[in-house]
Amino acid sequence: MSIAPVREHVLPDYMKAVDLLKVAPRTMAVDGGKVTLGGVDLLDIAKRFGTALYVYDEDHIRHQLASYRDEFKTCYPQSNVVYAAKAFCCVAMDKVVAEEGCYIDVASGGELAIAQAAGFPMEHVIAQGNNKSELEIEQCIDAGVGCFVVDTHEEMERISAYAQSKGKTQRIIIRVCPGIEADTHAYIQTANEDSKFGFNIRNGAAEQALSFALTLPGVDMAGFHCHIGSQIFELTSYVEAVNTMFAFMNDMRQAHDFVARIFDMGGGLGIPYTIYDRPSTIAQFASVATGAIHANCSEYDYPYPEILTEPGRSIVANAGITLYTVGSVKTVPGICTYVAVDGGMTDNIRTALYGSKYEAFVVNNADKPRDVICDIVGKHCESGDVVVKNSPLQACTAGDIICVLGTGAYCNEMASNYNKQVRPGVVFVKDGEVREVVRRETYEDLLRRDVY
Ligand code: LLP
Repeated sequence: MSIAPVREHVLPDYMKAVDLLKVAPRTMAVDGGKVTLGGVDLLDIAKRFGTALYVYDEDHIRHQLASYRDEFKTCYPQSNVVYAAKAFCCVAMDKVVAEEGCYIDVASGGELAIAQAAGFPMEHVIAQGNNKSELEIEQCIDAGVGCFVVDTHEEMERISAYAQSKGKTQRIIIRVCPGIEADTHAYIQTANEDSKFGFNIRNGAAEQALSFALTLPGVDMAGFHCHIGSQIFELTSYVEAVNTMFAFMNDMRQAHDFVARIFDMGGGLGIPYTIYDRPSTIAQFASVATGAIHANCSEYDYPYPEILTEPGRSIVANAGITLYTVGSVKTVPGICTYVAVDGGMTDNIRTALYGSKYEAFVVNNADKPRDVICDIVGKHCESGDVVVKNSPLQACTAGDIICVLGTGAYCNEMASNYNKQVRPGVVFVKDGEVREVVRRETYEDLLRRDVY
């Protein structure tokens, strides 16, 4: 008979909620036992809208968009920030992006539909995706999107044919795979040589794609795109990508007399999920990335292109939190304490999928030290259904409210209805007001697609 190994214990982390503000939304305040966001008491929000619930600090989102916009414009006036909608997408979010003067990147017909519902200026929409369907291509062209990032020859042919049939000329840029292994989780590296995304430089595919694009009627071939991955801490990966891209662009100028008017360097800037994470700032990113572009334009005497950057996570991740209610607490002596909440892998798959880490605290015990180590687990039928593993937490009991920080990116977007769980609602808080921007799903929503 084998005996289950005792879990290797992490030292308790006595920090209170107030010590976690570094990874919290900007307007989160902890005053003794009371925690507010956007001037609203978190416990009141939980009571009014129920849990599980995503709560976003609108000021934080606006601040991040404005920082990107202003830091890049200062270093490089001919630049635009393209919010990657896949990080968190809903009508209210798209409206905020438009109001802050940023562009948006849509990765599907669905994200395009949300942008249209938000009244987003279509000339500021960039259409992405490694396998856009014919219908999606037509929808994007009909909508009048500003630019496509193209990944395949088939896609270029389809864009050319449809644009011509509509008497239009569609701007495109070609996604190039510069062969960079960014320092991040393998699942979210995207520019390795063996990636499904884009055209490789080294095997000649990128050059062939350019030659092909230049022959196509109905297409305005405007430049190049690369995206090296996500949650990147090391800015040298970007410098490497910029150097590789400009060497390629210079070769293309010599071989094809083609000068890129647009250079899109993708997204990927990392964010702090835990208080121990030390990512680069937006200002550092802007300065290093545009510094590399300046250096390359000068080295190759290359005309300065318009530059685009596509941040997703670094706009919304730290702006968002998830509130849960504790349903039960179970301690297996010598092994672990399981704090079970009313959500789980359906509203945050990132822990199960990437082993992501988060900071959490008990809202109604915010002034107490986090002196218990536990697994915050969900309510779904899998042992891997963990929201935060080995989390320091205040002692808690059924009915307490838990706040998990840093859940603003890729949680709501990757949510599922596993176990027919209804997906949480989303609220924005600002200046003492809460507004529901996505309502919680209902059983009617779950039944809507059943044919019976
Ligand atoms: N541009 C392109 C072409 C992308 O594919 C992505 C993300 C972005 C921009 C935005 O990257 P960000 O700034 O958010 O890192 N589900 C994963 C992340 C997948 C990222 C996919 N592409 C996660 O939860 O970590």
